[in-house]
Amino acid sequence: MVDESDPAVAGREGQARGHLWQARFADGPAETLRALSDSLVFDIRLFREDIAGSRAHVTMLASVGLLTPAERDKIVKALDRVEKEIDSGILEFIDSDEDIHTVVERRVIEIAGAAGAKLHAGRSRNDQIVADMRLWTRGAIDDIIGLIRGLQRTVLSKAEAAGEAYLPGYTHMQQAQPVTLAHHLLAHGWALQRDIERLADARSRVDVSPLGAGALAGSSLPLDPEMTADLLGFGAVFENSLDAVSDRDFVAETLFVLTLLGVHLSRIGEELVIWSTSEFGFVEFDDSFVTGSSMMPQKKNPDVAELVRGKSGRLIGNLAGLLATLKGLPLAYNKDLQEDKEPLFDTVDNARLSLLALDGLLASCRFLTKRMAEAAASPEAAATDLAEWLVEQGMPFREAHALVAEAVRRSIDENVPLVDLVESDPQLGPVAAALVEPGMSVSRRSTRGGAGPAAVRDQIERFRV
Ligand code: ARG
Repeated sequence: MVDESDPAVAGREGQARGHLWQARFADGPAETLRALSDSLVFDIRLFREDIAGSRAHVTMLASVGLLTPAERDKIVKALDRVEKEIDSGILEFIDSDEDIHTVVERRVIEIAGAAGAKLHAGRSRNDQIVADMRLWTRGAIDDIIGLIRGLQRTVLSKAEAAGEAYLPGYTHMQQAQPVTLAHHLLAHGWALQRDIERLADARSRVDVSPLGAGALAGSSLPLDPEMTADLLGFGAVFENSLDAVSDRDFVAETLFVLTLLGVHLSRIGEELVIWSTSEFGFVEFDDSFVTGSSMMPQKKNPDVAELVRGKSGRLIGNLAGLLATLKGLPLAYNKDLQEDKEPLFDTVDNARLSLLALDGLLASCRFLTKRMAEAAASPEAAATDLAEWLVEQGMPFREAHALVAEAVRRSIDENVPLVDLVESDPQLGPVAAALVEPGMSVSRRSTRGGAGPAAVRDQIERFRV
């Protein structure tokens, strides 16, 4: 497949098959160096981006006169072929293929001969890897935004289906005031909305081309960095070559945003675990989203919710690890930067999986709204409403709070139903007693953004857009 007829290649064949930088050294690299530094096992995932970057680079080289149109076409054809070979798994790696850039260039030289040997003019793997990573991250962000939207649609449809169902709202994990189920679900929906906004914002800083920065200082060749940026659909071009090759803010930022997303998903997972206990019994999962026990025949375990919760721990680890890698690095490129890939890939993979699994779990679950209403039926849940009703009658809030608190205490100490005490209290009486009826309290939460059915109907309209 090597273009042997081409004397330039015949002479350099050994070089093309050795390490790109081999000519500088008398001896080959040690086994242990290879084991430590070769990155092909994980950066092979960047092959499409790497090849797209090379296509743009040679198109630019031809436009500034560093390649003839024929050379350009030959290289582009070779790149197309290498992409197909990697995609279909037929490309065989050789010993000197240390990373994705090396594989593609080695194979292009084998296919395109002397023209192929011109591919790397005016660039370094240092700007090349950042371009690959930025393209890959941009795609991953778009993909994850789509998956978050999917989960939001599920949250919305569950909220709509919940109607006026209500459950206890909690603070300190103690029953506080009843809230509608739709309101509770949408609380998570809004957190997801902020995740989308943060991703979109981070994307604008990911979307910057580093091509043309070279190893660290730019180039003496008449390159056109704006052209490569345009060809790759980047929104901007780097301003400083040192910064361009050493900046991994975009990775750290993406990791942070995805980690916060993971934390949000973890909190949903945690609630679903609690809600699915026999003690709560607020939710039942579909059989396809639970697991059994190898020993206890009765078990129905919420593994999906637990793993979504558990995954967030490793996302936090990936973020903390990358920040630690970056903190001591002088300008410009250092090989430490190779350590950005595995955490990014791992975080994106696990965020994606968590989103899909949680979406499936939620879409297929059944909320046990009768149980929820029973749990929220305790008259004490209306204590705040009683105090607010007294405020409406003109009583200062502090006084009202104390009066109701005392009624609650007496009801517990003397084992008398709260409703009886309210009814017989001269300041409260039968009108106030009606507020203690189950379901009354939640229906009165009518302020904007509040938990009552009317306010939630408006909220749903705002969430929909
Ligand atoms: N695999 C390297 C990385 O991920 C690519 C850049 C290599 N540059 C170098 N000067 N060795 O960072």
